[in-house]
Amino acid sequence: MKFAPRMSRFKPSPSQIASARVRELQARGQKIIKLTAGEPDFPAPDSAKQAVVDLIKQNKIQYTPVNGTLAMRQAVQAKFKRDNDLNYGLDQITVGAGSKQVLFNALMATVTSGDEVIIPGPYWTSYPDMVRLAGGTPVCVVAAQNENFKIRPEELEAAITTKSKWLIICSPSNPTGATYTWNELHGLAEVLLRHPQVHVLTDDVYEYLIFDGHKFSTMAQVEPKLFERTVTCNSVSKAYSMTGFRCGYAGGPKEIIAKMSNMQSQSTAGVSAIGQAAAVGALNGPQEFLSIRTANLQRRRDILYEKLNATPGLSCDLPEGAMYIFCSCAGIIGKSASDDRKIKTDTDFTMYLLENFGVAVVQGEAYGLSPSFRASFVAPEKDLVRGGDLIHEACAALF
Ligand SMILES: Cc1ncc(COP(=O)(O)O)c(C=O)c1O
Repeated sequence: MKFAPRMSRFKPSPSQIASARVRELQARGQKIIKLTAGEPDFPAPDSAKQAVVDLIKQNKIQYTPVNGTLAMRQAVQAKFKRDNDLNYGLDQITVGAGSKQVLFNALMATVTSGDEVIIPGPYWTSYPDMVRLAGGTPVCVVAAQNENFKIRPEELEAAITTKSKWLIICSPSNPTGATYTWNELHGLAEVLLRHPQVHVLTDDVYEYLIFDGHKFSTMAQVEPKLFERTVTCNSVSKAYSMTGFRCGYAGGPKEIIAKMSNMQSQSTAGVSAIGQAAAVGALNGPQEFLSIRTANLQRRRDILYEKLNATPGLSCDLPEGAMYIFCSCAGIIGKSASDDRKIKTDTDFTMYLLENFGVAVVQGEAYGLSPSFRASFVAPEKDLVRGGDLIHEACAALF
């Protein structure tokens, strides 16, 4: 079979290659401590589960409208108002199979050959590939660790050209946890106001996973003049531990939202009735448990952070949000292990951790910044302690 040229525009994701290696070692009976989880480990809220039970009992499991059920769009409308002070009409909201599909729809519906999409890095691995798949050019602006992995207004200004179509903002960020404050977003907004050709695609999936009292803000809320140029994406996946329900949503200008929905109509059509009912249950249900879960994750973040930060050769900052620590391993590069293994790249380092010490993390290369790695703190506390100790031991064994 001769495959379509678009299939060569992206490579298999390095994180998937790493996961395959983990599975291989596990199949051989090796015990692996996995610091790679990309989803919270809490149960889905009761309000979501009950909504699914009710739906199934009533047998309301038919096709759904492509842009989402009325109940779902109303729940999203109320959520945007309640949490973000954003007023979207029901025709300014659409629903997809996770925020991933919503982001994909937005890029596929708008980006064409010659268009540039500005992606602050380190970035979620899917953004550049989605842009390439749509035929556009990702323009990655990698933020420095000493800037808390946030791009500054002058860096954004320098990246903008007449071809720039979107700026993607993921805050809190996967993989760094960097969380833009209101003022920081405002600084970026001032630049964007000078460049009317640039639209903003926000990926707010980690909205509720914010630590140490940091506050969540999103661009359309911070700068109302950008409301008509911003698509605000979110989902119930990370917020409510509902990744498998596959339900994401976006609010934005009516014209773009309609095109996103058209895009989806010829692929998956409407999101499963079950996923949407669960999401409505979660969005309309009690929200108090969210802060308890965040405090629990914050404790786990602190355990792993202390271990990594006390390891010679590694350097990391305390993430403000999300579920990951993004750690530089620059001090390890160039060293060797006793089995003659040379650590030349972060991929070498993560393979060494996995194969010699049984700890899985993801190499920074996957996120556009090397040498570094991403360690998830969604793991049982005992695994965080043991995993952190093993990483320490692994680094100390290099010379
Ligand atoms: C930054 C970011 N955006 C979007 C997603 C996709 O989430 P979902 O499609 O489950 O909403 C993920 C999942 O890992 C993510 O890390």
